[in-house]
Amino acid sequence: MPSVFLKTYGCQMNERDSEAVAAQLVAKGYALAPSEAAADVVLLNTCSVRDNAEQKAVDKMTNLAGQFRKQRPGVLLGFLGCMAQSRGRELIDQLPDVDLVVGTQKFHRVADYVDDLLAGRRDKIVDTEEERGSEATIKEHLLNGASKGRAATAFVSIMQGCNQYCTFCIVPYTRGQERSRTIPDIVAECRELVARGVKEITLLGQIVTSYGRREILEHDGKSAFVQLIEAVHAIDGLERIRFTSPHPKGYGDDLVEAYGRLPKLVESAHLPVQSGSDRVLKLMHRGYTRARFLDIIAKLRAVHPEMGITTDIIVGFPGETEADFAETLSLAREVEFDNAFVFKYSPRRDTPAAAMPDQLPEDLIETRHAQLLALINEIAEAKHKACEGRVLQILVEGPSRKNPARLEGRTRANKIVIFEGSERHIGQVMDVRIVRAAPFTLYGDPAILNLN
Ligand code: SAH
Ligand code: F3S
Repeated sequence: MPSVFLKTYGCQMNERDSEAVAAQLVAKGYALAPSEAAADVVLLNTCSVRDNAEQKAVDKMTNLAGQFRKQRPGVLLGFLGCMAQSRGRELIDQLPDVDLVVGTQKFHRVADYVDDLLAGRRDKIVDTEEERGSEATIKEHLLNGASKGRAATAFVSIMQGCNQYCTFCIVPYTRGQERSRTIPDIVAECRELVARGVKEITLLGQIVTSYGRREILEHDGKSAFVQLIEAVHAIDGLERIRFTSPHPKGYGDDLVEAYGRLPKLVESAHLPVQSGSDRVLKLMHRGYTRARFLDIIAKLRAVHPEMGITTDIIVGFPGETEADFAETLSLAREVEFDNAFVFKYSPRRDTPAAAMPDQLPEDLIETRHAQLLALINEIAEAKHKACEGRVLQILVEGPSRKNPARLEGRTRANKIVIFEGSERHIGQVMDVRIVRAAPFTLYGDPAILNLN
């Protein structure tokens, strides 16, 4: 059977979509190629969120097309996902060697399209149509498959799209309107994963705190999202629940309270703040103030002082002044994030921010980016250092990515721990003592515990 190489750019949602596409291809008998060198089909699952993410995928495809045109002209080339959705046929006009362009609501059709193209039934295929019910079509998993092999953890897509329309963000255009799967459908998928050995599930969506808000009524003061977490929490054998990404405005008291009440819901939250300035937050259409954000953090820490809190921040939004940026720096100091992704603002087509006056020069954005990143790293390292000597619970995921002779797990607060262990630890929840903290990794020792 022909083999397929699938490369993924961007977020965890994209990783998850790629995994489902790969599983569908495998189910049809295709092999997964470890690299493009030997593959008969090369698919790039793309990201549009910043310009450089698009550029990477376009450059990669340009190189592949040039290389294959001479050596292996039969290789089939395709773009999937967000950039495919927003640029459609234009991608084939720009790169005529591309055979397939499939948008974000049609991942489940990829395997059939590849069949059609390889069999010569069709020449070029572009499908960026909307499809009713497409939020429930990303169900297949490749546990123990060639791509990840980390079967202790799994991602489950609970919804697609976003209606928040932050003024900088292309996601509502590439992923469409919010559409949620039903609770029974999601729980059935989670149950099956747990039956296959999965211990930790991450519920995924662009704005998970808006899950089901139009379809599922509040019950006992609990939002649809909290009802979903409760239903997943009830699955026997499941040890941990995470979710990403929430929106700060969705952190109602019901969700804060759930962290205290539901032991499988780990003490970890990725809460994208974007800016510390109320003026910028308003221009971004974020729907909360700095004070409200700080209030949520305080409430979460009141429930769990050990809560691991990470964030996303954009520097250089149009019109961001020195005073606005200073507010972001002071917010980072005040919250002491465990870590943060710091992004340079990138104007995206069709978004309101791209047309705002006072777009900042690149070098200024660069300077602010470096300054904020240095602060974030300093705080993150200090927080890591504070873990030395402590005993933390980890879920062992498998061999360490950096050093396969060792094992790697994550704490409940989502910090990576590397330790010397054996095969039998994989998939187990266990306690380790943290013996050393490097800037981005903790080193643990389970053996020391036995001496206690
Ligand atoms: N809620 C989504 C957001 C997707 S974008 C999720 O996390 O899945 C992820 C992050 O990229 C955002 O939180 C934001 O910080 C950043 N981002 C989005 N649009 C951007 C832009 N135009 N320029 C720079 N960064 C951007
Ligand atoms: Fe984008 Fe804002 Fe939604 S960042 S994904 S429009 S919450």
